[in-house]
Amino acid sequence: MTSHTVSELLSKDIVFSEVNIKGWVRTFRANRFVALNDGSTLHNIQCVVDFENTDEATLKRITTGAAVHIEGDLVESQGKGQRVEIIVKTIQILGDSDPETYPIQPKKHSFEFLRENAHLRTRTNTFSAVMRLRSALSFAIHKYFNDHGFYYMHTPIITGSDAEGAGEMFKVSKLDAKNPPLDEKGVVDYSKDFFGKETNLTVSGQLEAETYAMSLGKVYTFGPTFRAENSNTSRHLSEFWMIEPEVAFLDLAGNMDLAEDFMKSVLSDILKNNRDDLEFLENRLIEEDKTKPQLERSDMRLIEKLNFVIDNNFKRVSYTEAIDILRNSKPNKKKKFKYLINEWGTDLQSEHERFLVEKHFKCPVILFDYPAHIKAFYMRLNDDGKTVRAMDILFPGIGEMVGGSQREERLEVLKQKMAALQIDEKELWWYLDLRKYGTAVHSGFGLGFERLVMFVTGMSNIRDVIPFPRTPQNAEF
Ligand code: 4AD
Ligand code: MG
Repeated sequence: MTSHTVSELLSKDIVFSEVNIKGWVRTFRANRFVALNDGSTLHNIQCVVDFENTDEATLKRITTGAAVHIEGDLVESQGKGQRVEIIVKTIQILGDSDPETYPIQPKKHSFEFLRENAHLRTRTNTFSAVMRLRSALSFAIHKYFNDHGFYYMHTPIITGSDAEGAGEMFKVSKLDAKNPPLDEKGVVDYSKDFFGKETNLTVSGQLEAETYAMSLGKVYTFGPTFRAENSNTSRHLSEFWMIEPEVAFLDLAGNMDLAEDFMKSVLSDILKNNRDDLEFLENRLIEEDKTKPQLERSDMRLIEKLNFVIDNNFKRVSYTEAIDILRNSKPNKKKKFKYLINEWGTDLQSEHERFLVEKHFKCPVILFDYPAHIKAFYMRLNDDGKTVRAMDILFPGIGEMVGGSQREERLEVLKQKMAALQIDEKELWWYLDLRKYGTAVHSGFGLGFERLVMFVTGMSNIRDVIPFPRTPQNAEF
């Protein structure tokens, strides 16, 4: 007999009598009530064991974390809080779980503790909800692009180019411990060891995506990217996933429209299809808020916040306007910004970004037309000769969620910008070819997937929204 899932059994539309289910024991109460979870839903199903007719040895092995196979009858439940339950006919222990050593006990564990047990943390409600939402978000993203005529392309993970020109890359090397490559001084040198070439893990698939946009029209990538910056914040990872659409014949304004429509659609999809997990996480946040001082509590509930983003236009503000706002504001009555914005041309610190979205505009903000010298080489120079057609989308509680731009499509201007930054034309000959043969206005953006998952789940540390976080301190598992 094929197994059922908890989700199927709890669904109101389906009526089963004899059922067969496999899962993990969450709790076992009074030698009688097994709360069984199989990951298909947040909810457990209650399975009632006939302890008088079950041998003592088996009863002892029904412990938190054990894998079991249950056959029985699905009946209406007499108990509170559940519509149905299983009257167990047979219970087979598939895998024991030693209660003395099993780390995930039925109590509240700190997220720090669970991070150290990342291989087991999806056995808790919070992490299973987060990871189900992460999966649903990926699917919603692919669905959006597929519905809008985009092709999904795979860009290389090992690459010779530094797409962002920021030099924050991990080198790739063919480890040959017996015959390590040596430099002139006889020192081990792995830098050119991708079969004699220098390569790194990609920081972004954008440049390769541009090549396909210039033939297939509308494309996107969704893959892992790597940054070697030593940032130990709750919003940075060394390995994160990025969604990067790239579209031919699209200018910056069109790029903003696309990003806004895309994010709203994905959030609507999640609200429609993942209510259970969202409500659970919302309640978790409400409980967490109660432990905080009044000022630090959130002014909106999780689902309300998602609806707010869907229902309101993102505020579009130029960098220059934003600097004026920041110059004329104080973050609160007494304090000034830690990092003062005095001059046009300085990059915004996250405290400025947060002020703009959380205090000033109180909604997602698209900042555009940044000074050229603080942005990447490939961005389209404006007629003022000072600013580029860049856009960053800032979200409350998150800060920068999206970075994008209209790309420089003019060969000579691009060459000049590369020369100024000492980027070798030979390394990017293929990228320059796009400007030689049938060049056209085109644009795209990169959305940090984990930052989106943070926003949707209300989790406050990026390490808690990716299965196995890689940070400067941690690459275990
Ligand atoms: O702003 P970034 O660096 O832009 C790019 O890489 C462009 N090539 C994208 C494009 O136009 N196709 O990164 C894009 C987004 C950021 O806005 C942020 O959400 C996320 O990626 N991001 C990170 N997320 C987690 N950890 C990090 N270290 C991140 N660095 C960037
Ligand atoms: Mg950026």
